[in-house]
Amino acid sequence: MCGIVGYVGGKRAQPILLDSLKRLEYRGYDSAGIAVVGEGVQLFKAKGEIAVLEASMPEMEGTVGIAHTRWATQGKPTSENAHPFVGCNNKIAIVHNGIITNFMELRESLIADGHKFTSDTDTEVFAHLVEMNLDDGDLMDAVRSALKRIEGTYAFAVVADGGDEVVAARNESPLVVGLGNGENFVASDVTALLKHTNKVVYVLDGEMVRITRDAVTITDQEGNRVERKPERIAWSLEDAEKSGYPHFMLKEIFEQPKAIHESLLGRLESIGAEGSFFQDQSFSSVKIVACGTSYHAGLVGKYVIEELARVPTTVQISSEYRYSTAARENPLVLLITQSGETLDTIAAAREARKRGNRTVAIVNVVDSAISREVDHVIYTRAGPEISVAATKTFVTQLIALYLIAMELGIKGRSLTAQARKSVTGQLRNLPRAVQDVLNQAQTIEALANKYHKARDMFFMGRNIHYPISLEGALKTKEISYIHGEGYPAGELKHGPLALLSEDSPVVAIAAKDHTYEKMIGNISEVSARASPVIAIAVKGDTEIGKFADDVIYLKEIPPLFLPVPVITALQLWAYYLAKARGCPIDKPRNIAKTVTVE
Ligand code: F6R
Repeated sequence: MCGIVGYVGGKRAQPILLDSLKRLEYRGYDSAGIAVVGEGVQLFKAKGEIAVLEASMPEMEGTVGIAHTRWATQGKPTSENAHPFVGCNNKIAIVHNGIITNFMELRESLIADGHKFTSDTDTEVFAHLVEMNLDDGDLMDAVRSALKRIEGTYAFAVVADGGDEVVAARNESPLVVGLGNGENFVASDVTALLKHTNKVVYVLDGEMVRITRDAVTITDQEGNRVERKPERIAWSLEDAEKSGYPHFMLKEIFEQPKAIHESLLGRLESIGAEGSFFQDQSFSSVKIVACGTSYHAGLVGKYVIEELARVPTTVQISSEYRYSTAARENPLVLLITQSGETLDTIAAAREARKRGNRTVAIVNVVDSAISREVDHVIYTRAGPEISVAATKTFVTQLIALYLIAMELGIKGRSLTAQARKSVTGQLRNLPRAVQDVLNQAQTIEALANKYHKARDMFFMGRNIHYPISLEGALKTKEISYIHGEGYPAGELKHGPLALLSEDSPVVAIAAKDHTYEKMIGNISEVSARASPVIAIAVKGDTEIGKFADDVIYLKEIPPLFLPVPVITALQLWAYYLAKARGCPIDKPRNIAKTVTVE
């Protein structure tokens, strides 16, 4: 939800913190703030994006500091509610990502003791608790004592007046230490550190860390030392920058051929290996659990797994699954999450384990929280995704699902050696099929310019392209603010046709498969209601142009794999609609990339 960063070193902290904070802006951008230890604790906060903070803040001297970018959960997005918080007497400053669940009672008792509060947030209680405890001397001890009073989730970073250290602590919100030369960092995510170092140490739940210029000390909450080896991050700074693209979203869509390639690298060869995780499991069905775009990947996965492995597969939204009644079944549970931090999906993983099911997570962010909650992890290797709208991580989630379907197909003997060879060839071909769509970006932009004034937009698909229509609609509404709805094409006549008019274009996915004739029928129904139709079809389809107003032609590949190039076209469609409408593409209003609230 929020992003935190801390720095201790030999350089001025302010520009370093600001730069790192910008790389965390995808985690929240309704207000931001910074505290630097210099002559006292210097504090500056502002409502709005980090650019607003940067433009209005004074120069701060000092080589120790913390900063925060916020996505409001408790308390409106105002400068008063922005972090850092400094308690009553400016002797300490804290930033927080997470939620303190018992803050009301703490706040009342602190107010009764004479503490003055300046915000409506849950976080501020922690500043007062640390301040109270600091009278005893050591900042680490003060933070440790304060932590004992609070319940909830957190990654905290804390500095004290006159101190040359940042103390941080973690429980269920991400926290990583960056190891530099004569300088050290803490942050919510490695992308904030890549400019300075790729050597990191992950802090785990229940741990605290003290960083100074030359040392990093990790302890548990009782103060016992924890030894952990540093890791090298394979991501480069370039991965986390726009590299000449106007938006991260466009860059990330264009990275899809590479991301697919990386996701397949070395994996196709080892599928079905004896003793591997999937070959060793026993289960009667598959249940996929996820939220948002990851849920849509799961819906596509159902078709792929049932086609290649013939294993019955159900898909559920995480927040629904975790509160559902356990049926008498023994599914293998697949949890899909780009961030690995989505609270509902983490809770679903715990619930699945409680039900005695084996669990697998498909995750992009390495070592994120969910990786410690499941029996097996498959990383999607898409690289950092900065834009709030998920794109390259969606297609790599699909790749992971194709690979799992192959594993299960081999295990259940439904995938013959010949079929395996063919699937392998099709997967290897996908980067080219996606590149072919990217080469048509200008055509898609021209079409988006033609339709960008639409009020509503419908997306229809059949079979495996039904979930792709849902994902096309989600991308469109999320970034262009056009109301978008995805539908199984056969379902429009059961209600939604009532909404169609010339102001509501319909995007129809017309794959050349057993559903093609029916889709032509559905397109005709829509045209009869005066809605313009934009079809996504395959090259060589000479029929479709007679029924649709406009057509985007994709390279023909077998229908089971077509979702990957089709969604690429729809991502570009959503991107160019949003661009034509002047929307803030990478940071749509009201949403954050990582959703750590229920
Ligand atoms: C939409 C989008 C969201 C996420 C959802 C789940 O573009 O990105 O719908 O898919 O918030 O997030 P993860 O995959 O991190 O669990």
